Amino acid sequence: MPFKAVVFDAYGTLFDVYSVQHLAEQLFPGKGAALALAWRDKQIEYTRLITQSDPDPTKGSRFYQSFWDLTRLSLHYCLDRLQLDRTQGQAQALMGQYAKLSPFPENLEVLRSIKRHGLTTAILSNGSPQMLDTAVHSAGMVGLLDHVISVDGIRLFKTAPQAYALVQESIALPLENILFVSSNAWDALGANWFGLRTHWVNRQGLPFEALEPRPDFGGADLRSVLQTLKLKE
Ligand code: LAC
Repeated sequence: MPFKAVVFDAYGTLFDVYSVQHLAEQLFPGKGAALALAWRDKQIEYTRLITQSDPDPTKGSRFYQSFWDLTRLSLHYCLDRLQLDRTQGQAQALMGQYAKLSPFPENLEVLRSIKRHGLTTAILSNGSPQMLDTAVHSAGMVGLLDHVISVDGIRLFKTAPQAYALVQESIALPLENILFVSSNAWDALGANWFGLRTHWVNRQGLPFEALEPRPDFGGADLRSVLQTLKLKE
């Protein structure tokens, strides 16, 4: 297995975006799950709309806004859509929680194991740099990631090919030596179609998207990445 570097998606893969559900449920009883789901979908819809509608490859989109700002805007949209009256403090509390999302339980061990074996590690995310920095710190991942790559500089979100191309600006290796890991099937497809070898972490036991060509590898949680890399835990 020729992999020398592993690049992870952040939101949904290293950080549990649905962990906001608990606070959402406390604030809006009976609506926590619906809000967490709608919030994530709307946030991703906005990234796609911006990137697809105005994808200037040199300057990025004129309508670009940071992922943090899109996260806030999509939260407010979903609160309105679900007809949830909120105070400014409640919205701020949800954003505060989003800034410090829980990592999935096995993630730190898996990252430590990959580092112990001497591979390069990185994040490639739609997240803005400040947001990623806060998330990496609060999840205890400082020192476990060699590069934290944000699309913010190019003002185009994944799944634009220019976003995946950023990997090779930070990691000077041929594509076949880099494994990209995502729990988001759309992200795994985008990376695969760009030319990265890709591993889909299917935490929810979902059927794969009905599009091909599919990612090369997969498994039920982040530990499965160690099998793809043929590393012991
Ligand atoms: C990320 C989100 C979109 O790029 O999962 O981290």
